[in-house]
Amino acid sequence: MIAQSRMDILKPTPLLGALSPEDFMRRHWQKKPLLVLQAVPGGVALQTRAELFALAGQDGVEARLIVHDEAGWTLRHGPIARRTFPKVDQPRWTVLVQGVDLHVEAAHALLSQFRFVPDARLDDLMISWASDGGGVGPHVDSYDVFLLQVQGRRRWRIGRTRDTTLVPDVPLRILQNFEAEEEWLLEPGDMLYLPPGWAHDGVAEGECMTASIGFRAPPKETLGREVLQRVLDAAEEPESDVLYQDRGQPATREPGRIPADLQAFAADAVARLLKDPKALQCAMGELLTEPKANVWFAPADVLPVGSGVQLDRRTRMMYDDHHVFINGESFKAGGRDARLMRRLADARVLTPEQVRQLSDDALDLLDEWVEAGWATPH
Ligand code: SIN
Ligand code: CO
Repeated sequence: MIAQSRMDILKPTPLLGALSPEDFMRRHWQKKPLLVLQAVPGGVALQTRAELFALAGQDGVEARLIVHDEAGWTLRHGPIARRTFPKVDQPRWTVLVQGVDLHVEAAHALLSQFRFVPDARLDDLMISWASDGGGVGPHVDSYDVFLLQVQGRRRWRIGRTRDTTLVPDVPLRILQNFEAEEEWLLEPGDMLYLPPGWAHDGVAEGECMTASIGFRAPPKETLGREVLQRVLDAAEEPESDVLYQDRGQPATREPGRIPADLQAFAADAVARLLKDPKALQCAMGELLTEPKANVWFAPADVLPVGSGVQLDRRTRMMYDDHHVFINGESFKAGGRDARLMRRLADARVLTPEQVRQLSDDALDLLDEWVEAGWATPH
């Protein structure tokens, strides 16, 4: 069930080792690691080994198979047919499946427990299965991660990255001179939070399954380019346009030189295109809610009268002060409709009572989303 009552960010939770989400964000987020014993008491059933292997073989699912043997490290990308996997009792191999939350409701529900971090930062839930001794080698990630032990045991060693030299000629980013500062053996239900930049090495002791709750952080330059592209795409062609005028232009002996006034005119034109912060915010909201590659929705019937509504687990919905964004589209919203749509984005459900309060226009929109498979009756 994704439908959840609003999270109490002040309440201590076993998920964060008896810290409240607020304490966790203040003390640990992007700052220092946290080991949580029995974050999910008794562990969590997400996928059987066979189910995970089957998922790794599906088209459109991002999967990797990593084998470490006498010949060194090998990496294969999915889809990976089950029959081509090594035997499960062969040591030192692992299969990693990205985006399991898009396919498996229990994985989506687990990811939802981390919604004390904005959705704009939450990325996906990866599950890895490893045979005895398996892992991806010591490495460092650019993003925050919660590593939750699902089944079996895994020994984690972590340390600050002092030396970023990589092992040459291997298809993975493996640190050559990893030095562990701390070490723990995680049991099912235990969890380790790591901020970006902490080197880590997780090695299975017996077969094991680990879930990674991963985050995304847009690179500044890339985000800038993508937002700009969208703003330009959305800017309408002007019906009439102002021409450059140069009554003050004196006669020139340097006809090849571009006039400084013309340069200033161009700079002003560009600044005008970008001067509306709402246009930038709108473009960013659309970008952030763009569905992941390989996500498609199954069209459905309209919303039955008197029904509530629930967002499909693959739907991305966010909002800002002026817009509501869903799956790459933006809508202006105000008043009660905006309040209810924001509620839908936060809680991912609306009760029948809340749906009844929507205006006819907003209800039409909701109908379209249900027909597109972005939301379902609830
Ligand atoms: C794993 O599950 O084996 C790898 C997770 C990680 O180290 O980021
Ligand atoms: Co990692």
